[in-house]
Amino acid sequence: MSGFHLPEGVIYLDGNSLGALPAGVPGRLADVVEREWGEGLIRSWNDARWMELPARIADRIAPLVGVRGEDVHVGESTSVSLFKTMVAAARLRPDRTVLVVEPGTFPTDGYIAAGVADLLGLELRWCDPADPTAALGDDVALLSLTHVDFRSGAMFDLPTITAAAHAAGALMQWDLCHSAGAVPVDLTAADADFAVGCTYKYLNGGPGSPAYTWINPRIQGQVRNPITGWIGHSAPFAMARDFDAAPGMRGWATGTPPVLALSALEAALEAFDGVSVADLRTRSLELTDLFIAQLDERVTGIEIVTPREHARRGSQVSFRHPQAYGIVQALIARGVIGDFRDPDIARFGFAPLYLTTDDVRAAVDHLVAVLENEEHLDPAYAERNAVT
Ligand SMILES: Cc1ncc(COP(=O)(O)O)c(C=O)c1O
Repeated sequence: MSGFHLPEGVIYLDGNSLGALPAGVPGRLADVVEREWGEGLIRSWNDARWMELPARIADRIAPLVGVRGEDVHVGESTSVSLFKTMVAAARLRPDRTVLVVEPGTFPTDGYIAAGVADLLGLELRWCDPADPTAALGDDVALLSLTHVDFRSGAMFDLPTITAAAHAAGALMQWDLCHSAGAVPVDLTAADADFAVGCTYKYLNGGPGSPAYTWINPRIQGQVRNPITGWIGHSAPFAMARDFDAAPGMRGWATGTPPVLALSALEAALEAFDGVSVADLRTRSLELTDLFIAQLDERVTGIEIVTPREHARRGSQVSFRHPQAYGIVQALIARGVIGDFRDPDIARFGFAPLYLTTDDVRAAVDHLVAVLENEEHLDPAYAERNAVT
């Protein structure tokens, strides 16, 4: 716990949405702002090695998802990263006309797929979440799935689905927003093609911190970055007229690196130093198992929608209740921070780096009290906030 700043009296069960503040971030940001920027000014691009930030961060994220740092680009948002990889994937399968996504996926994944389909004259096909591979066929260019579902916390079988996509001649992309930092992922062993993920959830990079993109080295030489900005050029400061992509993932860059955000992220990732992904998973399952057991034992009138099998569970637990919004708000009033997803889901994330089993038990004590005292029926919770 000492590695994170958490307010006194708060049990933070929303690290699957916005990770907590790692203790090293404020000092690092102050130093970057005051010394590197304030004193160093433009000299810091060289002296503070600002240009190397994305590659240094890639080296830190890579082991969390089973890949090499040199095969990862850090920059832009998840949404923009999805756009780039989806366009690249479609161009790699010019004889195929379909992009497949799952209807319950995080909205941006579906919206971006629809936009790419529109741009390139492709068909967008929605698959059955119970069996995404049933939508595969010899017309499918790309199957793009979110590994862990943002509502239910259900996890797809990444290696098996990847193999099925390949068997059908399609490319496979994984959105790892709800996986990296909490759930083991081995993209190399699965031989997936593309992966993207945000860094502000279990990686604790801070609100809106930049996303990462992985492209299998097997296909890097064949794909083209569709947003050809100057930082992806082989020699940005040659200021040449024509675009010439930098080799490998350096060519996947687009614009100037967001130095403040990247600096916070780099400092945040130090929280993973010396921590194995296997240990994170063990702790995560211990926390979610305990939460589920406590709910089963002590709370009635809810329906747990998160799978009970470990192999199908990410690092969150969600339940359905007609007054889920009121329950979440009443818990927040008591210092237990989870969140709500439309229409009736209360969602609780268990970040294995900073939560304990005592936190889990105390959170359920509060939930029991909220329901007993009917705090969730408070008319103040009839109106929903803009961010739920
Ligand atoms: C699965 C998934 N993809 C994408 C995003 C967000 O994308 P962006 O970082 O572009 O806002 C989220 C945000 O919660 C998410 O859960």
